Amino acid sequence: MSETVYLNGEFMPLEKATVPVLDRGFIFGDGVYEVIPVYSRHPFRLPEHLRRLQHSLDGIRLANPMTDAEWTGLIRDIVARNAGDDQSVYLQVTRGVARRDHAFPKNTRPTVFMMSNPLVTPAAELVASGVPAITATDFRWLKCDVKSVSLLGNCLLRQAAVDAGAAETVLFRDGYLTEASASNVFVVKGGTLLAPPKNHLVLPGITYDVVLELAQANHMPHEVREISEQEVRGADELWVTSSTKEVLAVTSLDGRPVGAGLPGAVFRKMHRLYQEFKQTVMRQAA
Ligand code: PDD
Repeated sequence: MSETVYLNGEFMPLEKATVPVLDRGFIFGDGVYEVIPVYSRHPFRLPEHLRRLQHSLDGIRLANPMTDAEWTGLIRDIVARNAGDDQSVYLQVTRGVARRDHAFPKNTRPTVFMMSNPLVTPAAELVASGVPAITATDFRWLKCDVKSVSLLGNCLLRQAAVDAGAAETVLFRDGYLTEASASNVFVVKGGTLLAPPKNHLVLPGITYDVVLELAQANHMPHEVREISEQEVRGADELWVTSSTKEVLAVTSLDGRPVGAGLPGAVFRKMHRLYQEFKQTVMRQAA
């Protein structure tokens, strides 16, 4: 079965979906996106993803082309039209097609694109072993809270990890932890879970919120505060989180073991809580 995508009001096979070269997404990276995990055909935390989409659109001064009810209907449609119970819905809104000029065009219809791919979460072996990460200076712009399709900084930083045989690049700005190239980062020290605050330097991760909610609900000691590079390098545990990675332990950083060099006890607890939480939410949705 050919993958079905959505483009500007129509569902069509992926091969048929094309965008004019003057689309501002192509010319300027002028657009925003979301990635929504779907478990057993139920979108996970959809209202939260739509709220973040609105935040991103506000951040680039682009009117939302649809209501939340319309987005919800479209997302349910695309999930139904694609194979597999667990999917990853990608949606993108750009400022549309116009003659090249940096300033915003007037009366241009935004381009809305949506696709859904099979959701690939980390294999059990990876959850059990953890993954290596490297570090780098966070050289991205100062609006990292906007989920912008201008991802060149993130792409360069992620490729640095791949080149080093690592899974992620953990980022520091002015000596403090921000996030990683495509995930949020948590630290465990002395049994306390630490998370950097949500501000303009990090993407407000939906998984990040779930992890903190689970820590709160399960009385796990946790703090949201600035975390120094030194603290990261001296961490007992380091995790990365995202909609596709869920919660994954980082067991080596720049070639040196994190803590004991194995996923720690706090990680194992959170991983179990996250899986249980997913099951509960999906049962309620069914
Ligand atoms: N990225 N930080 C960055 C820079 C990210 O790109 C992502 C996710 C996250 C985690 O956010 P969430 O928990 O809402 O997935 C944090 C997605 C998955 C991507 O670009 O494919």
